[in-house]
Amino acid sequence: MGREAIAKETLSPPERAFLVGVDWKSRPEGRYVEHAWSAAESLAELERLAETAGLEVIGKSTQRLDQPHPATFVGKGKAEEIAGAVHELGADVVIFDDELSPRHQRELEAIFGDKVKVLDRTGLILDIFALHANTREGALQVELAQYEYRLPRLTQAWTDRAYSQQTGGRAGGATGGVGLRGPGETRLELDRRIIRRRIAQIERDLEEVRAHRARHRRQRRRGGLPSVALVGYTNAGKSTLLNALSGSEIYVADELFATLDPTIRRVDLPGGTAILITDTVGFIQKLPTTLIAAFRATLEEVQEADLLLHVIDASHPQAREQARAVYDTLQEISASDIPLLTALNKVDRFEDPQAAGLALYDLPNTVAISALTGYGLETLKLRLEEALEAEMARVKVQLPFDRGDLVSLFHERGLIQTEEYQEQGTYIVGRIPHPLLPQFEAYQVKARRR
Ligand code: GTP
Repeated sequence: MGREAIAKETLSPPERAFLVGVDWKSRPEGRYVEHAWSAAESLAELERLAETAGLEVIGKSTQRLDQPHPATFVGKGKAEEIAGAVHELGADVVIFDDELSPRHQRELEAIFGDKVKVLDRTGLILDIFALHANTREGALQVELAQYEYRLPRLTQAWTDRAYSQQTGGRAGGATGGVGLRGPGETRLELDRRIIRRRIAQIERDLEEVRAHRARHRRQRRRGGLPSVALVGYTNAGKSTLLNALSGSEIYVADELFATLDPTIRRVDLPGGTAILITDTVGFIQKLPTTLIAAFRATLEEVQEADLLLHVIDASHPQAREQARAVYDTLQEISASDIPLLTALNKVDRFEDPQAAGLALYDLPNTVAISALTGYGLETLKLRLEEALEAEMARVKVQLPFDRGDLVSLFHERGLIQTEEYQEQGTYIVGRIPHPLLPQFEAYQVKARRR
C-alpha cells in the first residue's frame, strides 16, 4: 500500500455487540429467496457468526415489519429504542441480520452516535472471511470484497473512527500529516479516491494469481482424474469429511467459515478409481451472490466439478432450510445441473444412525454418514464411484489433426486415460460426459488400431 495508508476499521475483539433482526410479515420482494427461517433462528445464527468474529453479544432486538423503512431500516421509533439500549448496555457495534443500504447505514449511525459502529450480516461475514483467509488469493479476494462493500458506505463518522483507531486516538489522522489530500479535498473524498485506486490494484494482482491457478487447474485436468466438489452449509462437516476420506489433516473447527480457500485432496475409491475432492467455502442463508462471486476460486471448482457432494449436518434443527439455502446458491452460481450426491452427516448424534436423518431421505441420492466416526464412509465411496461412472461415457477416439478443437474439448471436459499422437491423428482413450458423445461419435474406434 506504500504511503497511501487507507483507513481500515476492523472489529477489535472483544467488542460488545447488539444484534437486530426483522420478522418479515412477507418477504420483501426480490430481497432473498424464501428460506422459512424464523427471525429467532436467523438471529441465533447471526449470534454464532458474531461469536466466530470474537464479539461478545450483549443484547438483541427484533421487529415485525412489512417492508424495510427507507431511512432507518427498522421503524424510526424502534431505531431510537435500540439507541437507548445500546448506550445503556455500552455496546460498541450494532449488527443487523439483513442487508442495509448505504443510506440505512448513514441514518442509523446518525441516530446511534459516532462511537457506535453499524454493521450488517454481510459486513460481519466479510470480517470473518478476513480473519480466515490464508492464501494470497483468498486475502486479496476478501480485501477486494471489503473495499467494494465499504466504498458506498463510507461516512465521515466511519473515517474519523478508523483514523483514530489507527493513530491510537491522536487528532489529525494518518494521512492528514502526509499531505496526500488534493486541493479542497476532504478526508472522506481522499479515502474514496485511495480506495478506488486500491481496488484497481487488487484487481490487477488477482488477475495474475488467477492466471497462475488456471494453469494449475488445466494441468490437474490433464492428469485425468474426475473431480468432486464438496458443497454445503457452513459447519456441515465438509473439511472433516475430506480429512476422513483422504487421511489428511485439514483445519477443522467448530466455527462458521473455517475454510475459505479451496483445498484439494486425492482419494482412492474401492473400484480403483482415483478422484480429486475439493473442499470449498461454506454457504449460508442471506449471503449476497456478489460475495460468493468474490470467491471465484471456489466458484470455478464447483462449476467445473464432475460431481457435487452435498454435505448436510443432519443433526441440525434447520437441516432442511440449510439444504434449501445450498440449492438456491448452486442455482445462483449456475451449478444446479451438475449431478449431486447427498451425504447426511453427523448421524453419530442420533441413537440409531440407520434411522437418522429419516426426515431427509427424500433429498436426492442420500447416504447417511459420520465423518467423525467413519460410519457409512465405505458406502459413500462406492456411491461416489457409481455416480461418476454413470455420468461419463467411456470412449476411444481417433481425432484427425484438423479437429484440434475436439482434442481441446476432451481435455477440458473429459478424463483422459491414454493419449497418443499417431500418423492419422490423436488417439485418446478416456471418459467424457454423455451430452458430448454426439460430437465424438464419428471418430470412435472399436478396437485399438495399430
Ligand atoms: P466451514 O469451513 O464453516 O464451511 O465448515 P465445514 O463444513 O468444513 O465443517 P468442519 O469440517 O470444520 O466441521 C464443523 C464441526 O462439525 C467441527 O466441530 C467438527 O468436529 C464437527 N463434525 C464434523 N463432522 C461430524 C460428524 O460426523 N459428527 C459430529 N458429531 N461432529 C462432526
